Amino acid sequence: MRKKLFIPGPVEVLPDVLEKLSTPLIGHRTQEYSELHGRVRTKLQRLLSTHNKVFLATASGTGVMEGCVRNCVSKRLLSLICGEFGERWYEIAKLNGKAADALRVDLGKAIKPEMVKNALVSGKYDAVALTHNETSTGVMNPLAAIADVVKEFPNVIFMVDAVSSMGGAEIKVDCWGIDVCLSSTQKGFGLPPGFAVFSVSEKALRKAATVPNRGYYFDFVTFNEYDDKNQTPTTPSLPHIFALDHQLEKWLTEGLERRYARHIEMAQACRHWATARGFALFPEAGYESVTLTTVDNTRGVNVAALNAELGKRGFMISAGYGRLKEQTFRIAHTGDLTLDDLSELLGVMDDILAQGKA
Ligand SMILES: Cc1ncc(COP(=O)(O)O)c(C=O)c1O
Repeated sequence: MRKKLFIPGPVEVLPDVLEKLSTPLIGHRTQEYSELHGRVRTKLQRLLSTHNKVFLATASGTGVMEGCVRNCVSKRLLSLICGEFGERWYEIAKLNGKAADALRVDLGKAIKPEMVKNALVSGKYDAVALTHNETSTGVMNPLAAIADVVKEFPNVIFMVDAVSSMGGAEIKVDCWGIDVCLSSTQKGFGLPPGFAVFSVSEKALRKAATVPNRGYYFDFVTFNEYDDKNQTPTTPSLPHIFALDHQLEKWLTEGLERRYARHIEMAQACRHWATARGFALFPEAGYESVTLTTVDNTRGVNVAALNAELGKRGFMISAGYGRLKEQTFRIAHTGDLTLDDLSELLGVMDDILAQGKA
């Protein structure tokens, strides 16, 4: 049975978007492609409020995270960690032979600007990596406030994983001084997995040019050279780009504010549902994600049984991630889901819980 996905990626893909994915292919070194590429870049720049280049990569988001580390770290990386995806930055740095330190907070807590400042004043770091929305805990870190602190250190490159926030929450790349802001397409963008977008500042590009061993696939300097011709270095996933063009056109026509307001509305409804049913919210108060709700399973429901019952009725949510597998469950409300979709899911969950089936 087909299940409507309320998991934090991949998400539901609307029929009109699925149709765009099957657009007849074109050559990726043609004028037609260059026009498409330029159009998509301009729309992404509007989405991110930036004049920086925005590159298109045929990879999942983790590939670009690795690219960030290889291109932007020569001295030492400060990895801000509040969950499993923050850990990933640190692991990638280590596996690529880069010096790195981890600044960890307890699961469920957010990174605070003063912690970042205290670490950066040491002068040890030339790059700092943040997970905007920590999908494993449901914490949304205070990106704008952290960015304000990082700005005080002009020699530090600020790299932001916005995999589970871009498209669902406002990100002002230029105003906040984000050097690299990356996302993959299977969450807020409402597209299938396998594609990533990332903005790169002039500062990050200048830095990359000085860093040896940037690798081949994610060399930012090469991306920039090709982008100047409105192309990608290697053959891109054209179906993703056709569909991305279509999605962005719809959002910009509808107004981004409405998209973000819809996400906030869904998040508030989901949080209210959880607390009204005797659950708690896992993230510390004031830092709850707007794209997914991580519920602290204080009622001790059997999440596997709940999901199995949901599956029989055509829905799917997510168990906790990693260390939080048993302790939490996650309901994603992002991409093109609406408040009606969410209300339908929550109603079905109520039925299952009332029947004592989980
Ligand atoms: C916050 C965050 N960062 C990174 C990733 C990894 O992205 P991808 O699976 O596209 O490589 C995910 C995936 O769930 C994520 O949620």
